[in-house]
Formats: sequence, C-alpha cells, structure tokens
Amino acid sequence: MGGIPLIERLIEAINRFFPKEDWFRALNQEPRDALRYAMKGGEVVLAQFHGYNDLRDKVVLDYGCGAGAKTCYYATLGPKEAIGVDIHSRQDEVDAMLSRQAELPVRFLSLEASGRIPLDADSVDVAISSAVFEHVLDPEAALREIFRVLKPGGMFLMRWHPFLTRYGGHLGGVIGIPYAHVVFPEKALVRTFFRGAMAMSGGKFSGLLLYESLSTDSIRFMDMGLYFNRLRVAEMRRLAASAGFSLVAERFFRGTRETRFARHLPIGMVDYFIDYDVCLFRKP
Ligand SMILES: C[S@@+](CC[C@H](N)C(=O)[O-])C[C@H]1O[C@@H](n2cnc3c(N)ncnc32)[C@H](O)[C@@H]1O
Repeated sequence: MGGIPLIERLIEAINRFFPKEDWFRALNQEPRDALRYAMKGGEVVLAQFHGYNDLRDKVVLDYGCGAGAKTCYYATLGPKEAIGVDIHSRQDEVDAMLSRQAELPVRFLSLEASGRIPLDADSVDVAISSAVFEHVLDPEAALREIFRVLKPGGMFLMRWHPFLTRYGGHLGGVIGIPYAHVVFPEKALVRTFFRGAMAMSGGKFSGLLLYESLSTDSIRFMDMGLYFNRLRVAEMRRLAASAGFSLVAERFFRGTRETRFARHLPIGMVDYFIDYDVCLFRKP
C-alpha cells in the first residue's frame, strides 16, 4: 500500500462494502462473449422504448455506435438498413466478421471532422443512441445533426446517463460507491479506478481494445477532465427542444426498474434519483 495517497486508500476501503456494476466483468470476457453481451444490451435498450421500437423496413441510425454490437443487433430486426456512426471508425475485425456471417444490412461510418453525419437530410426513420450523450462535447450540435438526418415524423430514441446520477462518473464497474464522482476528487478516483481495473482483470485492463472508447475516454478524463459534459436532465430537454425536437415520452430508470416517482420531482432534482434517462423525441 506504500505510496498510495491516503484519499485513494480511503476510497478503496469504502469501496469494499459496495457491490459493483456488472459491465466491467462483462468487458473482461473473450471478445466474442463481450460482443454477445453488448448485443444483448441492444435488446435491453430497445425494450425500454416499447411501442416505438419496431425497426422493420426502417433506416436506422445508431449514433455513437462504439464497437457496433448494438448496431448489429438492430440489423437483425428487419430494418432496411442499420447504420452505425461514431467519431472513430469502428469497422474492426469483429464487426466485419459478424456482419459478413449473418449477412446483416449494416454499415459503419465515421462522423466528419465538423461533427456532420455523412448522410443526407431527411434520410433516417429512427435514430438511436445509447450511453453516448453524456460523452458528447457539443450535445447541442449533435442533436441538430440527428434532427437534420431524420425524416419528418422520424423518432430519436435516446438513453443516456446524466452526470449527477449514482454512477454518472462511469466508474461503477470498479468503484461501486454511489455518487463517488460527486464526493471524491476526480484524479484520486481515476487512479483508484485504474488500479482496481488492473486487479480485477489480472493486469489485462489495457487489453480491452474492443472497447477502445472506454479506455481512451477514461484517459481523456484523467488527462484533461473533458470526458463528461456534465449535462443535466433539464438542460438536455432544453437543448433537444432548441434543436427542434418534441419530447414524446421520458422514462427514468434505476438499474432495470423504472422510477416513476422521479417524474414528480422538481426537474432540477431528478438527476440524483435515477441511473439513466430514456427519452423519446420526434422530429415534427
Ligand atoms: C460508452 S460508448 C457507447 C457505445 C455504444 N452506443 C454502446 O451502447 O455500446 C460511447 C460512444 O460515444 C462515442 N462518442 C463520443 N462523442 C461522440 C460524438 N460527438 N458523436 C458521436 N459519437 C460520440 C464514443 O466514441 C463512444 O463510442
């Protein structure tokens, strides 16, 4: 323990008492199992939009698709096409293998440097983004781009983790202390996270390249403090409205359970009582 600052030792000691979120263990699996886990995640995401998640014959955009497993899952549901777009190209071997194998109607694109989605205006029926909007540095511009490519009447299904939620610091797979990122200094937390991640993965944490976004974003978090936009629920609503979207429905979740009472809280307090926000927007 020698050399580890007192604050980090305190975090480690408190952390022993808290269960961890399961995503870190899942990412630490073989790539093929990790991919299956991520595809299953796509199923969970879509189930939360029930009533609006029929993708048959639709052009579907997966905004911030990461390694593309959810995009591939959406492509299994009979869309005309599922298009994954991200700031980095993720057309890695696993995506290619999966799409070829199942002959899925899927393709992956990179965002242009300006943030433009390389698609025509009014060309997408359904846009989906999962666990992305807490990372987008200019959420207003991203919302305007999604609005532009959607057809009139098109839907945007957005699931995101506001910063002030229990695990909004994205450390919960290793540091299970709720609101740790609100209470403890960022640098101490990130250092504790990396040490814990190395221990939990038997020293292989840096081998999680399939989930490049996780490691690079975490490093950005450490180096520049820029990883999270620290967006709040109220601000997200405002930005979406200013991009032109109508909010059709909004559901708040803790774990897999909907927290209906959160709907009755003053909007400024909601973030603290939920884990994530599921918004359904429509382009009028
Ligand atoms: C936590 S990952 C989620 C990946 C995937 N949606 C999933 O559910 O597995 C967040 C992703 O958002 C992407 N991202 C961050 N900023 C973005 C932006 N401005 N536009 C598009 N994607 C962005 C990152 O590159 C990363 O792949």
